[in-house]
Amino acid sequence: MKPTAHDRAGLARRLRAAGCVAAHEEAGELVSAACDQDELERWVRRRETGEPLAWIVGRSWFCGRRVWVDPGVYVPRAQSEELARRAARLLRRRPGRAADLCTGSGAVAHLLMAEVPGAVVVGTDADPRAVSCARRNGVAVVQGDVGGPLRSGAFDVVTAVALYVPTGAFRYLPGDVQRWEPHVALDGGADGLEVVRRVVADAARLLRPGGWLLTEVGGDQDRSLAVALRGQGFDADDVVTWRDEDGDLRGVAARMPPSPLSSVRT
Ligand SMILES: C[S@@+](CC[C@H](N)C(=O)[O-])C[C@H]1O[C@@H](n2cnc3c(N)ncnc32)[C@H](O)[C@@H]1O
Repeated sequence: MKPTAHDRAGLARRLRAAGCVAAHEEAGELVSAACDQDELERWVRRRETGEPLAWIVGRSWFCGRRVWVDPGVYVPRAQSEELARRAARLLRRRPGRAADLCTGSGAVAHLLMAEVPGAVVVGTDADPRAVSCARRNGVAVVQGDVGGPLRSGAFDVVTAVALYVPTGAFRYLPGDVQRWEPHVALDGGADGLEVVRRVVADAARLLRPGGWLLTEVGGDQDRSLAVALRGQGFDADDVVTWRDEDGDLRGVAARMPPSPLSSVRT
């Protein structure tokens, strides 16, 4: 028998006792996705161990859109939605080509494709599980290292929610994230920016003149990244950062200088 909303309150109590913060919402998601009571019970037990909800029900939500998420693949975060929306606005201004490096499930690329239907969007990821998951989400994705597999000077927008947690800060992540989520999706090395610096270098190669890079960072990483951006030829006057409602840094956007010819035209 298909579970009903009636099951929700009891499940929410169990999930809360297991440490789930959004127990009521998660109970609703489990009830709506499970085929029958047996499946629901199996799923609740898995969730009680801390396994990510998205791996259990096989999906998550990003900017209000459903995204398939396979077990072992990084679960897209609400904190990355602002980056995706900003990228969609920039791509709409010059609908051409976008590359989403370290695409994971392909959530950001998927949003760009939906919001800017005329654009060509490709993703990359080093993890074969992520590559096959992003393909399930309709993203054209190449398995490879950062922007390595992609053509130089071919993109108007490059996005990257890469790994940027400093190795030493791992212990401050929620226990479930530390236990379950793939370290290859999170560990950014000593200062957290080892892969992000490579994102910056690859974006400088991939972008057309005037194109934009948007990358997720946290803490005060924008300061260290400013050096890398300048070093790779990004325009120091066209660097924008944004923060969440708690005032925490969430991302940096930087632009390659437009070509002299295009500045004359505009
Ligand atoms: C923090 S997750 C973000 C995934 C996705 N962008 C999102 O927002 O949901 C980082 C992703 O980078 C991938 N990755 C790690 N190292 C990489 C590398 N050297 N080249 C390409 N992808 C890499 C991981 O497999 C993981 O999917």
